[in-house]
Amino acid sequence: MVDNPGMSSCTPSIDRYAVVGHPIAHSKSPTIHRLFAQATGQRMDYSAIEAAPNAFAETLARFVAQGGKGMNVTLPFKVEACGLATDPMPSAVLAGAANCLAIRGERIEAHNFDGTGLVTDIAQHHGTALGGRRVLVLGAGGATRGALPALAAAGPAVLAVANRTAQKALDLQTHFAPHFAVQAGGFEDLAGESFDVVINATSTGLSDQTLALPLGLFAPNALAYDMVYGQGLTPFMRQAQAAGVCRLADGLGMLVEQAAEAFTLWRGVRPQTANVIRSLRGVSICASSPPPP
Ligand code: ATR
Repeated sequence: MVDNPGMSSCTPSIDRYAVVGHPIAHSKSPTIHRLFAQATGQRMDYSAIEAAPNAFAETLARFVAQGGKGMNVTLPFKVEACGLATDPMPSAVLAGAANCLAIRGERIEAHNFDGTGLVTDIAQHHGTALGGRRVLVLGAGGATRGALPALAAAGPAVLAVANRTAQKALDLQTHFAPHFAVQAGGFEDLAGESFDVVINATSTGLSDQTLALPLGLFAPNALAYDMVYGQGLTPFMRQAQAAGVCRLADGLGMLVEQAAEAFTLWRGVRPQTANVIRSLRGVSICASSPPPP
């Protein structure tokens, strides 16, 4: 795959894509899309662009003017990206944020594939269809907001959000009430409840902070899923493991699955993801266990 943004006029043009964020240096998206392109025989250029916190709009405008075809958007620009799109799709409107833009001439279509990526990863790589399950999301920020519509669409028996600041969970409940039902409250309201899937969407991420979760929160054979990923187990995965949970997953598969949605939208070809996740795990290993018998 030859990536050459500075091509000469006689070089056949290659469709350009990028991920934009701040910071962006450690993004795995260029590697993921390069692997997708290689595997599907697509000729495309995908780069990482760092934008200053106040410069997303001009970065997007420049990219569009240069003929860019699509953009992934990461922190802290997802909300702004949704607002700048001419055609925000329902997934972006519901989340109030976009992580994928498709540029069609002067029109910019916005999508949010984070939730779909999460649900697909849980179903396909962790053997857990969410239909009929009790699902809990910890945290009530942008990550939770992006994930809830796809989680609800998967048909869980119960979908709950718990947050350190209970009011923010209640605000999300109100926001989504016209579309689907969500149980909401503080961590203390979880006492006596148990869940089949517990997803950490707080920003505690890789910082070694323990969440104040009650005993018995994880049902037998529960899956503990952390939206972040790193080397080995994340602090949340370790916390779940200490509570007796055997099925642990980090968010690398979610990243790859949302990228696959973007790639499919842009190129009209759906890439295989399992090999890409395995290949990325060569440098970023996760302890994911098989589904229950
Ligand atoms: P993001 O866009 O990554 O979701 P965010 O919108 O800033 O980030 O939201 C951060 C989430 O992590 C919030 O739900 C926050 O809880 P509060 O609303 O109570 O602030 C949660 N969070 C951050 N640090 C936390 C901690 N130490 N313990 C529990 N929750 C925490």
